[in-house]
Parts: sequence; structure tokens; C-alpha cells
Amino acid sequence: MTTVTFAINGKTVSVDADPDTPLLWIVREHLKLTGTKFGCGAGLCGACTVHLDGKAVRSCQTQLSAVAHKKVTTIEGLSPDASHPLQKAWVAMQVPQCGYCQSGQIMQAASLLAKNKSPSRQQIVEHMNGNICRCGTYPRIVRAIERASKEG
Ligand code: FES
Ligand code: FES
Repeated sequence: MTTVTFAINGKTVSVDADPDTPLLWIVREHLKLTGTKFGCGAGLCGACTVHLDGKAVRSCQTQLSAVAHKKVTTIEGLSPDASHPLQKAWVAMQVPQCGYCQSGQIMQAASLLAKNKSPSRQQIVEHMNGNICRCGTYPRIVRAIERASKEG
């Protein structure tokens, strides 16, 4: 066990756990932020995507020790009132079906718009490529990102 201090959604927290504990468990079990989902646990689906110092990472593949003194953002912290252009576009375009993959999709998309405010369709598809949606909402995801990029 070790104590690791980091910032999550703007708040500083200290967590006692094994340093190799996946960040996903820390977020969901220790901090009770359950918007981030467990999909494959193997880095293959993107359901667990969060931001680490502004970059999209797979929290199931990120060890607690790797986030010490860094900034983590989960879907709960993307915007204080769900007003991020992507969140508004997701609602307007009715993107989700079952919804399970969607917080990971939005966090992945947000990391794209943070560095490229007007991505091309091809850049969107390439950036979103590793985020799996079993319900096949891909066309709506792309359209919602395009919509958000025009608003943002
Ligand atoms: S749960 Fe992390 S990539 Fe699938
Ligand atoms: S909305 Fe069901 S898995 Fe994506």
C-alpha cells in the first residue's frame, strides 16, 4: 500500500492503495465516480477513457503510481454543468443507445477538440478509431463531434 496524491476534477485527493492498482478501480471504487466504465479491462475498448494532464488515457491500463501529482479528469469533471459543447451535441443528436461506451467516447472526443478545434471528418474517425461501441452509434458520434466543433 502507498498513498498517492493527485488532482481529480479540480480537487486534490490522496488515495491509499497498491501503486499498481488500475486508475479505473481508484476512480470507480475509491472515489465513487462511476461515470467511467469498465469494458474490457485490457486496453481494447476505450470505455474507461479519462484525461491525464489533458491527454486521453485508458484508465484500466494506467497505474495509480503513474498519476501522482498529476491532473485527472473524468466525465463528471468535463464541465461543471454538462455544458461542454460535446455534451450538448450528444444530447441534441441523441447519440447514445445503451449508453455504456459513451462517457469514454466523449472523453476521447474532448481530447481531440482540445488540440484541434476544427478537425476534418477523417481526423475525427482516426482519433475515435479505438473506442468501441457495441450498439454501433458511430455515425452519430462523428456527426456530434462535427456539430460540437462548430460550436466550440
Ligand atoms: S475497459 Fe479500458 S480499454 Fe476497455
Ligand atoms: S451506446 Fe451501447 S455500447 Fe455504445
